[in-house]
Parts: sequence; structure tokens; C-alpha cells
Amino acid sequence: MRSFSSAQTLALLCFLLPAARSAAVFPATSAFGAPPDCLSCRRQVTDPASSATPTPTPSTSASPTTEVQDGQTGTLMVLPPQATETGLKQIPWQMPIIRSLRQAQEINVDPVVPAMNTLANHGYISRNGVSTLEELVNGMMEAFNLDVNFAGGLAAVNLLTRGNPFVNKVSIGGPSPLVPPLPGNIDGPVALGIAAHGRLEGDVSLTRADAAIGDSVDFQELIFDGDLLQLGKFGDNGPDGNNTVFNVATAIGIMNNNFARSLALNPQLTFNAARMSVAYATAGFWLTVFPNGTTNQSTLPIVGSFMRNQTFPPNWYRAASPILGSANAKVVAELQTAIPILPGRKNAQGVYVADPAPPFPFNTSFVCTAYYDQAAHMPVGLANTTGIYKQNVDLLTGLLFAAANRAPGCTQLAPPSLPSGA
Ligand SMILES: *[C@@H]1O[C@H](CO)[C@@H](O)[C@H](O)[C@H]1NC(C)=O
Ligand SMILES: *[C@@H]1O[C@H](CO)[C@@H](O)[C@H](O)[C@H]1NC(C)=O
Ligand SMILES: *[C@@H]1O[C@H](CO)[C@@H](O)[C@H](O)[C@H]1NC(C)=O
Ligand SMILES: *[C@@H]1O[C@H](CO)[C@@H](O)[C@H](O)[C@H]1NC(C)=O
Ligand SMILES: *[C@@H]1O[C@H](CO)[C@@H](O)[C@H](O)[C@H]1NC(C)=O
Ligand SMILES: *[C@@H]1O[C@H](CO)[C@@H](O)[C@H](O)[C@H]1NC(C)=O
Repeated sequence: MRSFSSAQTLALLCFLLPAARSAAVFPATSAFGAPPDCLSCRRQVTDPASSATPTPTPSTSASPTTEVQDGQTGTLMVLPPQATETGLKQIPWQMPIIRSLRQAQEINVDPVVPAMNTLANHGYISRNGVSTLEELVNGMMEAFNLDVNFAGGLAAVNLLTRGNPFVNKVSIGGPSPLVPPLPGNIDGPVALGIAAHGRLEGDVSLTRADAAIGDSVDFQELIFDGDLLQLGKFGDNGPDGNNTVFNVATAIGIMNNNFARSLALNPQLTFNAARMSVAYATAGFWLTVFPNGTTNQSTLPIVGSFMRNQTFPPNWYRAASPILGSANAKVVAELQTAIPILPGRKNAQGVYVADPAPPFPFNTSFVCTAYYDQAAHMPVGLANTTGIYKQNVDLLTGLLFAAANRAPGCTQLAPPSLPSGA
């Protein structure tokens, strides 16, 4: 409760002082009682106004933590330490309802990912929809009890595919004036944010339509209703009735059903390895991240609250110990094994064709193939950066490689490789 209050206070403070709101003044690290390390301490005193200066920002330290490139001030990212307090905890749910909150927002970037939007709605990350690595990781650790490396990997994939890792900002929705394009516009003139279809978001979503045939941003009642039909068939019995508890069989049913719908309706269906991996990982969250920590059950009302309202359910407890990425990877592997779909896309004739396997060693497992394909959705220019920009990219790609490297044989780092202009 105390942690939440301080996070909320900080979010509101930032909200009341829009001119001061920036990555530099939202160091969630300190909001949750963890002592910020030296790098973040120095970062907090960085003056954002110095971004206009075309020379490197003076630093009191031998290793600067800010740097100017193409008129932008880059900030050195630091992965926060693992939270020390990691037990069962009830997460407060009382809050202004989403619509009045969004009306009050100065900038509405249409957040698209329910878990991210939940964090923003409750003030665990900035309510303006623009976050930093540190803020995302601390928010996920505090509210969902994610392990620091799991949270870091999730934040990294967001920042590398759709954010600006030089200035350490990413929009959890659409484009925002608070996130400048990558220096030199190496990924086009606008940073689109994670809602944009085709890299992180894409086809065969659990709650959104494929972009080619519908609304890929807003919650879709009919698609979620289809998910709940699978729950009715395969779900476990629980406190809210029979067939109301999500399980792996339900997740398999949901993915099979949603793929079949996309296959039937979407002439431009794309379900490459990266997208398949994200879709299965999202289905995994319903089983690993959303369960009530006291019962370990992810129930109909709980998932309904996260998906429909994008709020923490009443009387919901986070997990009793940190959730490891490997727990979610286990669900992804179960889905990948049980679902007879290969990564691929429809060709010009409308036939779904499997994608070619990537080069060795990335062909050694689905995890490694998805890892390689994810890097192929990150601007190639990120692999050719210097200074703090390069340090940030190296930190983020290192987090992703560390996760992929747990798969036997996945021994080679895949640098960002999306051709410029793609
Ligand atoms: C729920 O399932 C149990 C066990 O299968 C069964 O005994 C019970 O009648 C079911 N309850 C309802 C309301 O269908
Ligand atoms: C929930 O899961 C945790 C960790 O696996 C376990 O220690 C605990 O006993 C489980 N609780 C219930 C009620 O099943
Ligand atoms: C969504 O929020 C409203 C208003 O607080 C509440 O009445 C409703 O039960 C919630 N829906 C879900 C699915 O949690
Ligand atoms: C979580 O479990 C506790 C203990 O069983 C219960 O009181 C609470 O209502 C549950 N919360 C939800 C959201 O299901
Ligand atoms: C991966 O590619 C290498 C080189 O083309 C090939 O020898 C190997 O059999 C492939 N491995 C798998 C699992 O397909
Ligand atoms: C790497 O970046 C530099 C400076 O932006 C640029 O001049 C060079 O062409 C780039 N090299 C490649 C291989 O993209």
C-alpha cells in the first residue's frame, strides 16, 4: 500500500507538472523504496532543458550519463536491481475509472496492451503513456511481481521494436510528441509506439482484430467472447463456478480458434515466428501473471477485469514469489508443441505458407527462431550506434540474448536487422 501510494503520488505530481514530466523526473526506482544506484542518482539531476544544447552535456563523472546526438539528449539506461520485497501483496484497485482518467490526460496515446494499460491506469508507470526502461521494470516488479530479468526482457523488446532507446522512452500506445524519432530518423520520421501493427503487435491477437480486417487497437468484445467460449469448454472449476479458471487447455483452444478466424478472414495474415511467440507469450501471461496470488487461479472475473477494464481486480493479490521468464516460456513451449501451426504468412494466392527456417544456429529451436525473427523487427540502424546510444542498445539486446540463450544451442546474439525503410 505504501509503495502504491508513493508511486501514485509521483505519477500525480508529474501529471500536475507537465513541463517537468520526463524520464528524468519519473525515476520509479526510488518510488518503491529500492535505493537508486549512482547512475540513476546522477540521472535524476540531469536538466532536460539541456537537450537543446548541441554539445555533450557536462557531467561531474568520468563516464557521462547523457549525450547529445542529432539534437536529442540520450540518457544512459540502467537495469534496476531486483526488488527486495517480493512477497504476496494485495494490489490496490480503487482508482478513478478509465474514461475520466483518459479525458483528463493531456496526451492520449491509446494504450493497446491491457497489462501495460493497467499499470498506467493505476499509476505504476506514467499515466501519459510514455515510459522508460527503469519505470517499466519497476512497475512490473511491484504490481505483478515479475522477476527483474523477465520484466527487463519485456521492456527491452518494446523499446527496441517501437521506442527510442537513445532517449530511453517508449509509448505504450500510438505516437507521442514525448518520444522523438530515432536519431537520424533511421526508422522513419515518427516513433510509432508499441500499438503499431507489424512488429510487436500483429495478427492473431487474443482481444484485438487483425489490422487488415478490423480494429487492432481497441478491445474487441466478440473476439474476447470467443476466448470465453474456449474457457467454457476447457476451463477448470473454481470459486466462480465450473469452467471458469484459465488453464493451458483453454489457452490452446483460444489460440487455435483465433488462428482459424484469422486464416478464414484475413487475406494478409502474417504469423511469423516473432509474432507467434508474442501471441503465445501473451496467452501465457493469463496463466502466469494474472492469477490471484493467494489461490494461483486466473479466473473469469480476474481476466475480465484486466481485459475489459484494464484495471486490477478487487481483492487481487500479486504472485507470492517473483515470476520468472522461464515459467512463461514453459507455457509458450506447451502451446507451440500442442498447436499444429508453423510460423508463416499468406502468399499472393491466399495460401498460408510456412516461413523459411533462419540460418544456423537460430534454426535450432522455436525459441531461437523467434528470437532471431524478433531482431529482424528491430531497425538495423540500432546495430550501428555509438556512445550512450550503443550502450543502451547493448544493454537491451543483451537482456534478450540472455533469455534466448537459455534454449540449448541458441548461442549467437542476433543484432537488430530490420532493413531501413521497411
Ligand atoms: C460442477 O462440476 C462438478 C464436478 O464435475 C459437479 O459435481 C457439479 O454438479 C458442477 N456444478 C454445476 C453447477 O454444474
Ligand atoms: C501457489 O503457488 C505457489 C508457488 O508455486 C505455491 O507455493 C503455493 O502453495 C500455491 N498455492 C496454492 C493455494 O495452490
Ligand atoms: C469494470 O468496472 C466497472 C466499474 O467499476 C465494474 O462495475 C465492472 O464490474 C468491471 N468489470 C469487470 C469485468 O471487472
Ligand atoms: C483472491 O483470493 C482471496 C483468498 O481466497 C480472495 O479473498 C480474493 O477475493 C481473491 N481475489 C480475486 C480477484 O479473485
Ligand atoms: C539448421 O541449419 C543447418 C545449416 O543449414 C542445418 O545443417 C541443420 O540441420 C539445421 N537444423 C535444424 C534443426 O533444422
Ligand atoms: C553507421 O552509422 C554511420 C553514422 O551514422 C553511417 O555513416 C554509416 O553509413 C553506418 N554504417 C552502416 C553499415 O549502416
